[in-house]
Amino acid sequence: MLKLFAALVVLGLAMACITSWMLDSYDTAWHPKRSIQHPTAGDGEEHTGSSPPFPDGELSNIFWFIQVSDIHISRFHDPRRVPDFEKFCTETIEVIKPDLVLATGDLTDAKTESKVGSLQHEVEWQAYHNILKRSRVMERTRWIDIRGNHDAFNIMSLDSVNNYYRKYSANQKIGSFHYVHKTPFGNYSFVCADATLTPGPKRPYNFFGILNQTQMDLLDTFRAESLKSNQSIWFGHYTTSTVVSPSPGIRDLMSTRIAVICVANLHTLGPFFFSHHSKQRGGTLELELGDWMDNRRYRVLAFDNDLLSFSDLKFEQWPAVLITNPKDAQYLHPGLEPLGRIRRSTHIRCLFCV
Ligand SMILES: *[C@@H]1O[C@H](CO)[C@@H](O)[C@H](O)[C@H]1NC(C)=O
Ligand SMILES: *[C@@H]1O[C@H](CO)[C@@H](O)[C@H](O)[C@H]1NC(C)=O
Ligand SMILES: *[C@@H]1O[C@H](CO)[C@@H](O)[C@H](O)[C@H]1NC(C)=O
Ligand SMILES: [Zn+2]
Repeated sequence: MLKLFAALVVLGLAMACITSWMLDSYDTAWHPKRSIQHPTAGDGEEHTGSSPPFPDGELSNIFWFIQVSDIHISRFHDPRRVPDFEKFCTETIEVIKPDLVLATGDLTDAKTESKVGSLQHEVEWQAYHNILKRSRVMERTRWIDIRGNHDAFNIMSLDSVNNYYRKYSANQKIGSFHYVHKTPFGNYSFVCADATLTPGPKRPYNFFGILNQTQMDLLDTFRAESLKSNQSIWFGHYTTSTVVSPSPGIRDLMSTRIAVICVANLHTLGPFFFSHHSKQRGGTLELELGDWMDNRRYRVLAFDNDLLSFSDLKFEQWPAVLITNPKDAQYLHPGLEPLGRIRRSTHIRCLFCV
């Protein structure tokens, strides 16, 4: 039976909200074992999880981060979008305290009032920039914002005066990049695959991303570099099915080691694709996230002893809960994650914010 002796470690206190780390000891014999796959022959020790560290009663070997996508700051539509996003940057970030935030594209809406045409509006970019400044979110976490198709509408070249991403975003990086998050217990790779077109076509011609050979070669060097990291996340604005790339293709590039891909964008194809999760050949997870624009979605992800877990949440719905150990059996990745650690762990671990 499940034995509960919850230890509560208070991490933060903001706006009468408490972020707590809950640890419950459990009897591993009770816990269903069918979900824990046996390591396949040939896997190194570090992948089987037969070697430490193991998830225990300490708040260690863990960090968490947030993804938010398709913010679509608009001068014409939904007047709550901007103040809600500011509240997200102040209160939600203050409560959850992520190490980093990935804003995966479409920071602004860039449409004409009629919603039919497209146009870069400097005021939308200024509104975004002001939220980052007023909330001082960049002092509290690492804010990584990338371009989406809307952020490239009607931009004729990267040097165009209307390429406001260059001026008003936090990241200001055009093109793919590799960021390594360093912690005392390991290094974690975050690879951005930027398939946004430059020059950016007008609506509605840019729902596909393109990676040419040069860009694929660059991503391949990031793939090779990231082998040194404990785990890797690839992220971008486009789903792999909407990226056109030369053979062997973006999926093959990612399949060698990457645990998860965070994408957005599918809200443009209709509500049925909301938060779609899929497993590709090789076990790579592709996790689409619902948008901020209409649905106020965000995601909390964690690496706990190198095991990835995530939870898709809605703004202002508390408590926000993420069980990091044992992780959700649907998303196990036997080739990449040290799954044996789940079996040898001594505590149920979860991130719990109210
Ligand atoms: C990260 O990788 C290093 C080097 O392989 C290893 O010593 C360390 O235990 C790993 N960290 C975790 C949390 O597994
Ligand atoms: C992280 O990378 C640095 C080099 O950039 C290396 O010195 C360090 O040992 C790595 N940490 C772990 C835990 O692997
Ligand atoms: C590939 O795309 C990049 C960025 O759009 C561009 O700068 C580069 O010239 C392209 N390379 C080739 C070989 O087309
Ligand atoms: Zn969008």
